[in-house]
Amino acid sequence: MAKHLSFPEGFLWGASTSAHQVEGHTHTDWDQWEKLHAAKLAVNAPRLYGRLDQWPELKRQATTQTNYIAGAASDHWNHYAEDYKLAAEMGLTAFRLSVDWARLEPRPGHYDQAALKHYRKMLLSVRRHGMEPFLTVWHWTIPTWLADAGGWTDPRTPSRLAALAEWLARDLGDLVKFWITLNEPNVYTERGYLSGDWPPGRRDLRAWRLANHNLAEAHRQVYRAIKAVQPEAQIGLSNNVIPYSAYRRNWINKFLLSLFNFHWNHQILRRTRDCLDFIGVNHYFRYRINLGFNKIGRAKRSDMGWELYPRSMYAALVGLQRYRKPIYITEHGLADAQDRYRAWFISESLRSVHRAMRHGCDVRGYFHWSLLDNFEWSDGKWPRFGLIEVDYSTQQRRPRPSAKTYATIISRNGLDK
Ligand code: BGC
Repeated sequence: MAKHLSFPEGFLWGASTSAHQVEGHTHTDWDQWEKLHAAKLAVNAPRLYGRLDQWPELKRQATTQTNYIAGAASDHWNHYAEDYKLAAEMGLTAFRLSVDWARLEPRPGHYDQAALKHYRKMLLSVRRHGMEPFLTVWHWTIPTWLADAGGWTDPRTPSRLAALAEWLARDLGDLVKFWITLNEPNVYTERGYLSGDWPPGRRDLRAWRLANHNLAEAHRQVYRAIKAVQPEAQIGLSNNVIPYSAYRRNWINKFLLSLFNFHWNHQILRRTRDCLDFIGVNHYFRYRINLGFNKIGRAKRSDMGWELYPRSMYAALVGLQRYRKPIYITEHGLADAQDRYRAWFISESLRSVHRAMRHGCDVRGYFHWSLLDNFEWSDGKWPRFGLIEVDYSTQQRRPRPSAKTYATIISRNGLDK
């Protein structure tokens, strides 16, 4: 008989979303940026994603301008109760969502009670459906007024976020025990300030350093602000984790390996480790450095071309053991419109999680990205990350077959070896 890999009792089984990606429709830097760039993105998609030739329908979407405008996205703002019901039917015991800063603070210092009330209703619904909420305070978008004031290079931004967090903790603290201050500061600053292909669209090393500094400062201030009103809160941040290795062990690859590993995986954690109750790990793929590029070879790939190598989860987790903090895997998933690999990818990755736990990693939960199909930033709506498929023209939901596999794992609190 196959051996069963059991997870500890109380291990959290979840899924994640973020406000802009499932709610759309607000006055954020992204809304502005989408309108400005949609036409160019639609033209560039076939060059960027040659693999789209295999799937005419996805290619049609990717070459359409409206694909790049979030609009109502998956309209989770209005469909949240239905979405949480589907999540509960899958057996989820936890759910990660974020709030949209632009909805909550539409003008500097002016907090919108109606928006707060709505988030309160959503969180109540999460709880009523038997799930533990994990609330992310900042998942990448900022109000347009803040972008105009300098965004993350403005030294006032950390205290503004802390003031918002304090207000949230006062009103939502009875519903939220687990807080995530920031989502993936490393991805955000890389795309926004180095490659410049996301807002604010800069390529400026000094601005990149400053934004990283301010984000670390924001984490510290938000942490203190929440703890002041809710001392029992558990507060962490979600970092994107990439295990690096040298494809060939020459000095260039070895040098880049330590540089990338430090900046990507450890910089923010080293700056914030004294005020972190847990580490949130967002892990998608490994990176085998070949003169600065990622050597993928002939592996299975997601629709976006990301290598699907489930064993890298092990390396992602053990690389963080030095911090001696509890770990929640706050994101992990793939774009897979046909649902060819999702069930396999989840199962194999969870085997890697289990292995890391046997080797001492204190992992306490796994959140799949994502519950629903959603707006995948500069790639728009064609990449399909959801356990649940969304038809954007009708907003109808349909769980994919892999949702069943995940539900079975949850009901058995584990899987066969
Ligand atoms: C982000 C999500 C994103 C996902 C898939 C993560 O880097 O936190 O917002 O949709 O990856 O790309």
